[in-house]
Amino acid sequence: MMAVPGDRQRSFDKGDPMLSDTQYATPDRYEARINLVKKFSVSPKSRFRWIFEHFPKGERLRVLELGCGTGLFWLANRGEIPEGWDITLSDYSAGMLERTRLSLAVLRRSFRYEAVNAEEIAYPDGHFDLVLANNMLYHVENRKAAISHISRVLTDDGVFIASTMARDDLAGLHRCLYDFLDGRGRPFRFRELSFTLDNGYEQLSAVFPKVTMLRQDDALRIDEAEPIVRYYRSFNGMYDNFIVLPDEEIDAFRDFLRGILETRGAITAARDTGIFICRKR
Ligand SMILES: C[S@@+](CC[C@H](N)C(=O)[O-])C[C@H]1O[C@@H](n2cnc3c(N)ncnc32)[C@H](O)[C@@H]1O
Repeated sequence: MMAVPGDRQRSFDKGDPMLSDTQYATPDRYEARINLVKKFSVSPKSRFRWIFEHFPKGERLRVLELGCGTGLFWLANRGEIPEGWDITLSDYSAGMLERTRLSLAVLRRSFRYEAVNAEEIAYPDGHFDLVLANNMLYHVENRKAAISHISRVLTDDGVFIASTMARDDLAGLHRCLYDFLDGRGRPFRFRELSFTLDNGYEQLSAVFPKVTMLRQDDALRIDEAEPIVRYYRSFNGMYDNFIVLPDEEIDAFRDFLRGILETRGAITAARDTGIFICRKR
């Protein structure tokens, strides 16, 4: 089993200047966001199933997932994972990793679990055939270092798959929040993420000679107010401890959403998400 020297891996609670240290210390906030997109997606195929379809084929691959969250990717694809794959699931949050270990205990196969900071991957050169980074690179402060470590730990024919969203992902939903907050005299806009379908190609192609981008078609059709309230509350304190939706605004926001749902029946928001597939040759 590959050991990752503890002193080379930054633990979550040492923090990141942008990302607050409470955001991924436990899975609760992340789950509020993922539950909304899972429950109200109109696509017959989940995002994780769609991503898996673009994995390289092979019976004996060495796989590393960075920022694995709670391991949902592997649960979603449980019936498809070849037995011969040697899979290392990693995250820099001990809380996330522990939840992953518990959720995947139901699968009858073994995974390796490692605390890894994507900026300081300590595996040897050419160790993996596939590296996966689902919706996590925009959290990594020193992305340049992360991308070059990823390339280094891949074999010459290895593949790196990074999923993310575009700038306008869920714009139709964010509009509701913005209209509400504008009306309360507290204007707020999410800032553009540092790694998206719009700006990721340039960052990846600085290291990988071959980069392909694929988009998945999907939308949310949401007919309940409460999951939207939970979704936006989960962003409270995400960056620089900024409170998007303070406690005293929750009831008013819920009523505002119910008003929209009574008129429109549902809030529909297009998704704009996808993956980059990167190769070294
Ligand atoms: C939005 S969640 C995505 C989880 C999962 N990959 C998914 O797609 O559902 C981001 C994850 O990246 C982890 N993370 C953030 N920065 C990281 C870093 N520098 N190194 C490793 N993991 C990191 C967080 O702890 C969190 O579990």
